Amino acid sequence: MIKLIKNTFYREEDTKSKLIEFIRGAKILSMNKEVLKFEHDFAAYQGRQYCTMFNSGSSANLALMQALVNLGRLKRNDTVGFSSLTWVTNVTPMLQLGLNIYPLEVELNNLNVSQRYLAQGHTQQPLQALFLTNLLGFCADIDAIAKYCQANNIMLLEDNCESLGSAIAGKKLGNFGLASTYSFYVAHHLSTIEGGAVCTDDAELDEMLRMVRAHGWDRNLSADRQQVIRQTNRVADSFYAQYTFYTLGYNLRPTEINGFLGHTQIPYLPEMVARRQANFKRFMTIVENHPDQFEALKFDHMDVVSNFAMPIVCKTKEIFDQSTKLLMENGVEIRPIVGGSMIEQPFFQNLQLGDFSSLHNAHHIHAHGFYFGNHADLTDEEVNFVVNLFK
Ligand SMILES: Cc1ncc(COP(=O)(O)O)c(C=O)c1O
Repeated sequence: MIKLIKNTFYREEDTKSKLIEFIRGAKILSMNKEVLKFEHDFAAYQGRQYCTMFNSGSSANLALMQALVNLGRLKRNDTVGFSSLTWVTNVTPMLQLGLNIYPLEVELNNLNVSQRYLAQGHTQQPLQALFLTNLLGFCADIDAIAKYCQANNIMLLEDNCESLGSAIAGKKLGNFGLASTYSFYVAHHLSTIEGGAVCTDDAELDEMLRMVRAHGWDRNLSADRQQVIRQTNRVADSFYAQYTFYTLGYNLRPTEINGFLGHTQIPYLPEMVARRQANFKRFMTIVENHPDQFEALKFDHMDVVSNFAMPIVCKTKEIFDQSTKLLMENGVEIRPIVGGSMIEQPFFQNLQLGDFSSLHNAHHIHAHGFYFGNHADLTDEEVNFVVNLFK
């Protein structure tokens, strides 16, 4: 059986041994210096000034939206565009915070929103922000998207939960907008079992994210910033200062276990990304050798495609049925392309936001797409087995 996930961690034995040793020796397992070390190392890896770790990618998305609302940078009834092909918790935090949402069409040959589909959406419904998903390691013309956002005063945010390590024109995905989110759930590029993060270069936003992460209090800010916040809110007494709630927050904290796992594996990231990229190129031969059956995938504009699964979009329902049967009968685990198109989901349809049937590509990918795993632990034999099934 070739499953979507083989192991919880890359170099599983080694990581588990280190984890056991760490737990035995650790005095504190709730959020502390291991999380801080991960944040420092991950910001350095990503090439961003700040990183705040969370207990999941979904929490990172929620915290980012809440932080922007707390700062008044997003307001109730502002409209945020999003990629029709994404994961549900890319979208639901915006609804929960009273923001309007607007689904955008994606390109068939890279599964992502492009500048032309952003412009089309913005013409139909003016957007104040775009929460762009970089789907399965791919992107469209993200540079043009960033320029369009700048010219049209649209705040660009990236959900990079599926594309850690991907790069275009020498720049990592996740570094094109104000902030980007990451998931470290088991099946993703780097696993902390559960975990997530937001990266940004904006100090004010990072500070707010730390308050949103833990109850709206100031404990995770620098002493200087605590002093300013306490003075502004006239909290003179240090007895109460520890229990003063300045803004709207949650408890979305990771543990020291997540932090430890994260920073222990960051050194392996280049190797994990390289292995996935190599597997991806082999898997691409399936698509390239059957242009009459599968939709072409274009990625020559990218330096690195780092995905955790290989998407295949069939041209027809018949080919979809044949291909999924072939894989399942041969023990290859498959699933829809992430969560499919959000437009097709009951939670979205129940909102009755309008008729989005013109988003043909999103629908086609939803109806005729599937993916199988692309992890760093796949052997050459396993990759060849899948490739050969299609010969
Ligand atoms: C695009 C996207 N955003 C957010 C998430 C949520 O991440 P998590 O599973 O860590 O909550 C996922 C999860 O796979 C995702 O694919």
